Amino acid sequence: KSHKVWVSRPLFPEVLDHLARYVHVQAETSERRHTAAQLRQKLAGVDGAIIGLSDRIDGEVIAGNRRLRAIANLAVGYNNLDVPALTAAGIFATNTPDVLNETTADYAWALLLAAARRVSSAERWLRAGNWRGDMRFDDWLGLDVHGKTLGILGMGRIGQAIARRAYGFGMPVLYHNRSRLSAAIEHDCRAAWVEKAELLRRADHLMLALPYSAQSHHAIGAAELALMKPTAVLVNIARGGIVDDAALATALREGRLAAAGLDVFEGEPAVLPGLRELDNAVLSPHLASASADTRRAMAQLAADNLLAALGYGPDAGRPRSWLNPEAGGRT
Ligand code: GLV
Ligand code: GLV
Repeated sequence: KSHKVWVSRPLFPEVLDHLARYVHVQAETSERRHTAAQLRQKLAGVDGAIIGLSDRIDGEVIAGNRRLRAIANLAVGYNNLDVPALTAAGIFATNTPDVLNETTADYAWALLLAAARRVSSAERWLRAGNWRGDMRFDDWLGLDVHGKTLGILGMGRIGQAIARRAYGFGMPVLYHNRSRLSAAIEHDCRAAWVEKAELLRRADHLMLALPYSAQSHHAIGAAELALMKPTAVLVNIARGGIVDDAALATALREGRLAAAGLDVFEGEPAVLPGLRELDNAVLSPHLASASADTRRAMAQLAADNLLAALGYGPDAGRPRSWLNPEAGGRT
């Protein structure tokens, strides 16, 4: 085995075994955030790496590294990678698209339903021993989901998977995306394109499924929240930073937005105390893709991408989810 790879976080043993059939594997056995200095040092002695969202790979981390050929991101979103810097250095960059679309869409709906129907707060109340004989007929009134207009901001593959589920709930779907989808996809998703302001005004419930970038930073801030209906539920399964969390906490507290379901946060794993203390926010620790099958499929895809980038297997030289084919690679 001539190639060495580093795996920055604990991974399924069968995926590590698969990698080890081809390359020498050095895998972390505990979960942690790596500093730029640690990443530099870890990447200095390897040909490739599988890394997680909290590992930020930029020009500084790879400066002077003459050996590294491939970075496989264990996520579909890759705002933690400086792809132009990797491309300039001739290093392959890959992500894990598609395998998580349906699982992530399922979870977006779980958050919408939980936030609208107050699942988490009702459970907290029950577990605290509050359910005695005095629960009123008009207690725990939530918001309906079925029949309402669903808005989707960001209509990529995950947004489309969310939209297709709306049919069963009898929900018309509006979406906004920088580029309009083809008529065939719009038809398949039963979704109509509208301007962003119109989407915010008309959506009874709004789901965010757009990638994070400088352009999408605070795509939902105070001004956008002000356009939304006070009876709306906002769901973010995309990335922290797309929503201005402080503005959202204020809107939720003041009743200008009914509820929110959030899987991602600005500055996570830290969560704004103003959000944590709200009963009308359903919060989860960035786990939307975490079904047993999908996390395995993501790990396997990242491993296959890495092996292909290093010249192994049926896709040798052409990894399936290659973010920078223009890099050419150092192979
Ligand atoms: C998770 O957030 C991902 O981008 O896959
Ligand atoms: C609710 O459980 C009802 O029976 O109305």
